[in-house]
Amino acid sequence: MKKLMNNIKFISTGSYIPEKIMTNFDLEKLVDTSDEWIYSRTGIKNRHFSTGENTSDLAVKAAQNAIDKANYDISKIDLIIVATFTPDLMSPSVANFVQAKLGLSKQDITCFDLNAGCTGFIYALNVASQMLKSEKYQSALVIGAEVISKVIDFNDRNTSVLFGDGSGCVLLENIEEIVPAYFYSTSEGELNKTLYVDNVVHMDGKKVYQFALGAVEKAIKKVLEDSQLTLMDVDMIIPHQANIRIIQSVAKSLKIDLNKFFLNIDKYGNTSAASIAIALDEYIETRKNKTQETLLLVGFGSGFTYGAAIITI
Ligand code: ACO
Repeated sequence: MKKLMNNIKFISTGSYIPEKIMTNFDLEKLVDTSDEWIYSRTGIKNRHFSTGENTSDLAVKAAQNAIDKANYDISKIDLIIVATFTPDLMSPSVANFVQAKLGLSKQDITCFDLNAGCTGFIYALNVASQMLKSEKYQSALVIGAEVISKVIDFNDRNTSVLFGDGSGCVLLENIEEIVPAYFYSTSEGELNKTLYVDNVVHMDGKKVYQFALGAVEKAIKKVLEDSQLTLMDVDMIIPHQANIRIIQSVAKSLKIDLNKFFLNIDKYGNTSAASIAIALDEYIETRKNKTQETLLLVGFGSGFTYGAAIITI
């Protein structure tokens, strides 16, 4: 089978988490729930809620964080993709706001948002990589950003305890050298009403749970198959942080040590399209081994979408 290679380099990562912490105990005052119920069923202790900042404010802060870490010349950026299901407005895109807030309005940049629910960041990475590979683009900001607190129904205890706000970003460059990066993304559209958002989030939790187990397993297997790699070649798995029990079940079923999954769900809850981007940045910042590693990203979300990526970073 032909290996699908890319020529993208990860220059840096960044993230931003709003200051305000909402603990499970804070939620007990708003919703008929308990810290024990939330933590034992999901692994979540805290999440952060924006106070007045919109999605583009969070997005630009994650982008700036990635730019600052690399001391990057922003005049090179010619592509901005924001994965989100909570844009500031229906139109224009959050990416356009990011362009303006970074002071990049005078240069040629392709800017757009992408909505693939919680799988959005993996979809966006895939799209950006193919665009960079086309050699029409040289430098991309790929951002996952959400202010989910603005679409939470605090009368619904099934959904209101799960989500948090935040943003994460990667800065990518097109280089001549072939760097392995593999993507698998797909969807099952007939499940579109299992988890959807109109003015607020609606979810059939049990159905999502069952679907997620199969989707995460399949996405991991598919991306490994496409890359002709095995789990032994992967240094760390960065999963979508939706529910610790989903990750534990997948680990058990695929016989993977749970320590091979990077977890931060206890601190931030489910930040949807931002979740993998935030976890990636946090992992990069905290890893002891600073040499290049092979990371497997995997996620699932409304649509139903799911997918995985193997990247070298
Ligand atoms: N506090 C207290 N009780 C609650 C709460 C709450 N916050 N939410 C629901 N309950 C009650 C229900 O009303 C129900 O009560 P009933 O039996 O009297 O009707 C009971 O708890 C259901 O309990 P369980 O069956 O034990 O719940 P379950 O184990 O299915 O856990 C959960 C529910 C956590 C939502 C689980 O189904 C789940 O994690 N699903 C996956 C959903 C997910 O990850 N969504 C993330 C968003 S989707 C995404 O990221 C793509």
